[in-house]
Amino acid sequence: MAALIELEHVDKDYVSGPAVVRALRDVDLTIERGELAAIVGTSGSGKSTMMNIIGCLDRPTRGAYRLDGLDVGGRSNDARAIVRNRLIGFIFQGFNLLPRTTAQENVELPLVYRGVGQRERRRRARASLELVGLGERVHHTPNQLSGGQQQRVAIARALVTEPPLLLADEPTGNLDTRTSYEVLSLLQALNREQGITILIVTHEHDIAACADRVITMRDGVVRSDVRAEAPMDAARELAALGPPG
Ligand SMILES: Nc1ncnc2c1ncn2[C@@H]1O[C@H](COP(=O)(O)OP(=O)(O)O)[C@@H](O)[C@H]1O
Ligand SMILES: [Mg+2]
Repeated sequence: MAALIELEHVDKDYVSGPAVVRALRDVDLTIERGELAAIVGTSGSGKSTMMNIIGCLDRPTRGAYRLDGLDVGGRSNDARAIVRNRLIGFIFQGFNLLPRTTAQENVELPLVYRGVGQRERRRRARASLELVGLGERVHHTPNQLSGGQQQRVAIARALVTEPPLLLADEPTGNLDTRTSYEVLSLLQALNREQGITILIVTHEHDIAACADRVITMRDGVVRSDVRAEAPMDAARELAALGPPG
């Protein structure tokens, strides 16, 4: 079986007037199904550019990108959107939830776009919210939820279509240490128990330490790619912090 993600000699140039920014240079990267990998690197090193290509939001300037064996790098925007909707769930730093809209309705949204009927939407959104531990909060709106709970709603929304791949760009960037570990422990559980492949962009070392593999970017190049022998267990780190004070 092909790897889930294969980037081959990928370049990404951003052209603005006479200036060209070479945001990715000759990137080769393979991610197998079931991996939990962190992408780290200083600001401007190309992390988001790489995530946008992997997420089928953008395409390489040169080189090949295959997702689940499909050559998506060269496809049209519409074709990439179809692949994206089928295979990828996104989690963002800012949660991107609709305000004045309940957790349940936020999570149902991707199913509305797919034309899933109301009863089935409701059932699947509930199941997804249960999975992230928010079964008791389905009728709460974002302003009635903590930051960590809002991010869990966003994770439930990303999961409701049952994608094999979750992409998270700085998912804990707006959260304190305790809440970051809560979110990470959820992502680790989804990876281990549901087999979901997860890529997390982060600049926080303790978050990257929870990944099985750490890919370091610098100036658009993959500078190192290291497998962790014993990744940190976020649930254990959370327990070690003691009760919330
Ligand atoms: N839309 C764009 N147009 C021009 N330059 C861009 C654009 N997006 C990113 N860049 C440049 O590409 C480089 C990589 O950016 P980015 O992938 O956002 O880095 P990171 O996510 O690691 O901070 C940076 O030099 C950035 O300024
Ligand atoms: Mg970025």
